[in-house]
Amino acid sequence: MRLKAGSTQSLHSGAFAHDDLIGQPEGTIVATRMGSKLLALRPTFAEQVVERKRRAQPIYPKDLGAILVHADIHPGARVVEAGTGTGALTLAALRAVGPEGHVTSYEARPEFSEAAREAIEQTLGGLPSYLTLKVGDVYLGIEERDVDRVLLDLPEPWQAVPHVAVALRPGGIVFAHCPNVSQVQRFCDALRERGGFGMLETVELLERGWTVRGRSLRPSHRMVAHTGFLTFARRLAGDDVFETEGEGF
Ligand SMILES: C[S@@+](CC[C@H](N)C(=O)[O-])C[C@H]1O[C@@H](n2cnc3c(N)ncnc32)[C@H](O)[C@@H]1O
Repeated sequence: MRLKAGSTQSLHSGAFAHDDLIGQPEGTIVATRMGSKLLALRPTFAEQVVERKRRAQPIYPKDLGAILVHADIHPGARVVEAGTGTGALTLAALRAVGPEGHVTSYEARPEFSEAAREAIEQTLGGLPSYLTLKVGDVYLGIEERDVDRVLLDLPEPWQAVPHVAVALRPGGIVFAHCPNVSQVQRFCDALRERGGFGMLETVELLERGWTVRGRSLRPSHRMVAHTGFLTFARRLAGDDVFETEGEGF
């Protein structure tokens, strides 16, 4: 919630005055009028991704971290992304490339692009100069050239492969997020059929929380079991295919 002088917040656990929190440090505990205690903290990026009202399915925080590292999204990188969706991966990429880099994000649906723009503005306090939001269909083409990274999170990433091949610089990395393994297979087949890609790797991340309290030392009862498969490949200088032996990563 956004704090506003003079406002009162009503919750199941009781109401509290915003003025009780304004000016207090993060980590302050505030009592509601029903006597419940609330801990006041600014939301982390991961909490914002999960909690935000949205119409598209965002990439989960556990996968966002791995994507940034495995796709090596570094300060100064030029990144093309599609589709923008909620803007969760866009925001993660913006944090990683910084003001020296650039993120161009394509979204086929204008209303999703507009909602993502608002979410990014709210999160960052404005639209950064190193972000370009485009309404467009990446199955039809990618306008950018010589880009360092292409990040795909859409239903048929294989349709974008011919355009990724011309947009990526040699040595660049393409990433695709696919909920179903049939999509992974079609994406990898398309990379091999096009040629010019190598070092294909697919991973799935399982994150299991643990309870560590008193004698209760055990895995959590609940977990987000499956989100998506993460597939990465490198753009080669030519149009050969280069496969690595073994398990990767
Ligand atoms: C799963 S969501 C992406 C979520 C996003 N990665 C996030 O973290 O919020 C897929 C998005 O791709 C968009 N999309 C589907 N096909 C597309 C295409 N051909 N070109 C561009 N965007 C497309 C959809 O409208 C949708 O918003």
